[in-house]
Amino acid sequence: MKLDLFVTCVTILPAILIISTCRTNAFIVDVKNVTDKSHDYAEVIKLSLLYFEAQRSGKLPKDNRIPWRGDSAVNDRGPNCEDLSGGYYDAADFVKFTFTTAFTTTILAWGVISWPKAYIAANQLDEIYKTIKWATDYFIKCHVSKNVLYGQVGDFMSDQMYWGRPEEMTICRPAFKIDAEHPGSDLAGETAAALAASSIIFRSVDRDYSLWCLQHAIELYEFADTYRGFYLEAITNAKEFFSSTDYGDELAWAALWLFSATRDHKYLEHALHHYQNFRLDKRPNEFFYNNKIAGVQVLLAQLEGRSEHQEAARAFCDFSVQKQKRTPKGLLYINKTGTLSHAANVAFLCLEAADFGIGDSRLIYRQFAEEQIAYILGSTGRSYVVGYGKNSPKQPLHAASSCPDRPAPCGWADYDKNESNPQILYGALVSGPNENDEFNDHREEDIYTEVLINYNAGFTSALAGLLQLQLDGL
Ligand SMILES: *[C@@H]1O[C@H](CO)[C@@H](O)[C@H](O)[C@H]1NC(C)=O
Ligand SMILES: *[C@@H]1O[C@H](CO)[C@@H](O)[C@H](O)[C@H]1NC(C)=O
Repeated sequence: MKLDLFVTCVTILPAILIISTCRTNAFIVDVKNVTDKSHDYAEVIKLSLLYFEAQRSGKLPKDNRIPWRGDSAVNDRGPNCEDLSGGYYDAADFVKFTFTTAFTTTILAWGVISWPKAYIAANQLDEIYKTIKWATDYFIKCHVSKNVLYGQVGDFMSDQMYWGRPEEMTICRPAFKIDAEHPGSDLAGETAAALAASSIIFRSVDRDYSLWCLQHAIELYEFADTYRGFYLEAITNAKEFFSSTDYGDELAWAALWLFSATRDHKYLEHALHHYQNFRLDKRPNEFFYNNKIAGVQVLLAQLEGRSEHQEAARAFCDFSVQKQKRTPKGLLYINKTGTLSHAANVAFLCLEAADFGIGDSRLIYRQFAEEQIAYILGSTGRSYVVGYGKNSPKQPLHAASSCPDRPAPCGWADYDKNESNPQILYGALVSGPNENDEFNDHREEDIYTEVLINYNAGFTSALAGLLQLQLDGL
């Protein structure tokens, strides 16, 4: 067994650190000080989509805009020779992970559905379609039959032993799936949500493709709902690095996106049933790939509008704006890992809530979102988006961009270099500062410099929401 060869090697992924208690700041910290209206949201959207492009796996199209990237992992296959090439690399390295890619896709699609004018104004509508389609094409490949979905390609252990370019990778890349005997309602549910939400945006561009996405979404939801279980019980390879603690939120989320795409009330009934059954009315602490209860609440309030759901959405946003922990300089501080993405996800969700008049404090939610995004873009004197603004991160933890130009070799020596990444990973949002607003721009300090595709999800959609507010003069 190949894994045995690697047990003596050092793991480069983080140990989860304990979060120290940090003080709760008075809410709405001097918004004037931290808000910088000079940010060019359109430019940052453009860069963010470039980051997704840099994460592409498989055969790249002729219009690839990342000069230091080429075809890679074109032979990714399932055990029955199913073609599993394509999709996105999840992080610094080269595992493809359906669960987080699907969450990312759902959130990107929601942003496009809500604020298409922003993408048009930024001249990025075609680009975001391509970003999303790169994921949906892959999900469709992974969904090889009604009750079989591939959830991972690449092995975390051997992947961690390799530092270099994806184009030159020779490590074995096994594929892992869920099926009726080894189900994963969370994974199948999130993938159904991503395909349903994407089918809405593709409707006006490519009707057949949109229907195809929807068909897969319908089947995946049935699979998720009929065969209940956690995907990490089936795909144990990922257990060490990802968590999934519930699947009620994914079932409700998928049903709601199917209702949104089909307007078939059967799906709304399913969603309401899951909402009640899994007690999704409680007020969550965060909104990210492993907890989308707040997303369910806001989406339900948007689609159905009952006051109890509006109330739930309002409770989450009010809590986040007023009571959630903050750093001294005002950043929402939910988790040491992916601090900035947590803040951006909440900013995005509360912009969605504000648009639908949830809570009596639209202005407060919008100011809050503006202030959180301003922090990310540089209000404290440094930007946290690679290649954008003042003093942006120079050493994101990212293998491909740490490599010199080809044909120079690339390996662990490049990981160890205390130097800027030779290739600029434009648009990547790093994990972020600690609870005291301190940031260590060093590749080995993954708690600060890690980049993941899901980090850029809520962030990109929040930028679109803010740009649309600017356009509308609000
Ligand atoms: C912080 O995030 C990590 C990784 O997502 C997770 O394992 C951990 O439980 C989170 N901690 C808290 C306090 O939410
Ligand atoms: C990396 O280099 C910078 C400046 O060149 C230095 O301040 C810093 O201490 C170095 N970090 C490590 C971990 O060597």
